[in-house]
Amino acid sequence: MNILLTGGTGYIGSHVATALISAGHQVVCFDNLANSDAAVIDRLAAITGTAVPLVVGDIRDGDALRGAMADHDVEAVIHFAGLKAVGESVAEPMKYYDNNVRGTLSLVQAMADCGVKTMVFSSSATVYGQPQYLPLDENHPTAATNPYGRTKLMIEEMLADIAASDPEWRIATLRYFNPVGAHDSGLIGENPNGIPNNLMPFISRVAAGRLNELSVFGSDYDTPDGTGVRDYIHVVDLADGHVAALDAIVQAAPGLSTWNLGTGQGYSVLDMVRAFERVNGVRIPYRLAPRRDGDVASCYASPERAAQELGWTAQRDLDAMCASSWSFERTLAMRNTG
Ligand code: NAD
Ligand code: UFG
Repeated sequence: MNILLTGGTGYIGSHVATALISAGHQVVCFDNLANSDAAVIDRLAAITGTAVPLVVGDIRDGDALRGAMADHDVEAVIHFAGLKAVGESVAEPMKYYDNNVRGTLSLVQAMADCGVKTMVFSSSATVYGQPQYLPLDENHPTAATNPYGRTKLMIEEMLADIAASDPEWRIATLRYFNPVGAHDSGLIGENPNGIPNNLMPFISRVAAGRLNELSVFGSDYDTPDGTGVRDYIHVVDLADGHVAALDAIVQAAPGLSTWNLGTGQGYSVLDMVRAFERVNGVRIPYRLAPRRDGDVASCYASPERAAQELGWTAQRDLDAMCASSWSFERTLAMRNTG
């Protein structure tokens, strides 16, 4: 298929691009480069041996989207484009509703105009809010605790209404747990601007000496070692989950389906620190710090539905996640010095 990836030069989109190309699809990236670099396109070409077109545009620009879909005979869209920093969404909620919610409305309108009604959407485990039970399955009640999470919930509800209104739509909503790691090549990975909010890029930068120490947010949670537990999933496994979800919605009856993409295994912050140190032979200085507002003690998936309906399960373990994160961090360091 010819597939448009909104946000395709971002962290997850770029890994999904490589997986789709390996599976025999053609991809076009559509990105406003708000949080990514056009050089990712050259790296995708180096990894896949295929030239990947990039359309620099904003999803709030319907004409740009319609032009890209017509020019590239697009048959399906995978929608990654969005802003994702929880703290920023609290400080600047209008920016998030405008970019994420209005942007998605603009996208689905442009898709309908072009007769493209197959879509995979990047949602998040954040839509489960405070877990009422674990592991989290797709029937767990949803509740957002911040504006970012609310944009994801609103988009999920919008997509459900659209699927209910027109039987031609085929939509997959994928609820990601905690994507980490990088492509085996070391050429693409997660490289946030400024000081990272997320654990794994923070650990990598401490290991590289770019940051002094990790603050472990909370050591008095009701977890085995008192630190927060999450379901970390290798981004290459996550990418394969998108290929499986796209295949499934193309083959099954139209409508909307929701799948968790996680491993089902929870690791604490200190588990992550120790694994990263052991696998990579580095030291991660850390100090125990107060809890971070809005964090939950534990969050991990039931990946059963994806296993049964998509035939997909995560294959890569924590060691592979830590090794590939460090390999990407070292590639970045070489790029910056060389
Ligand atoms: P990312 O920031 O690396 O990628 C998002 C891409 O979208 C960037 O390249 C950015 O430039 C682009 N973009 C943003 N707004 C745009 C707009 N208006 N028009 C065109 N392009 C735009 O983030 P990511 O980690 O790859 O996340 C991809 C998606 O997955 C996001 O929707 C995010 O909310 C969701 N998600 C991410 C995580 C995670 O931990 N990384 C977890 C759950 C869900
Ligand atoms: N943590 C630290 N120190 C840090 C950063 C994080 O101790 O410097 C801890 C957190 O307190 C938490 C764990 O590491 O216990 C993971 O935190 P992340 O910020 O990496 O991830 P979150 O689980 O908070 O959230 C991430 C994304 C959300 C997404 C969610 C579920 O940031 O957007 O996963 O997919 F919604």
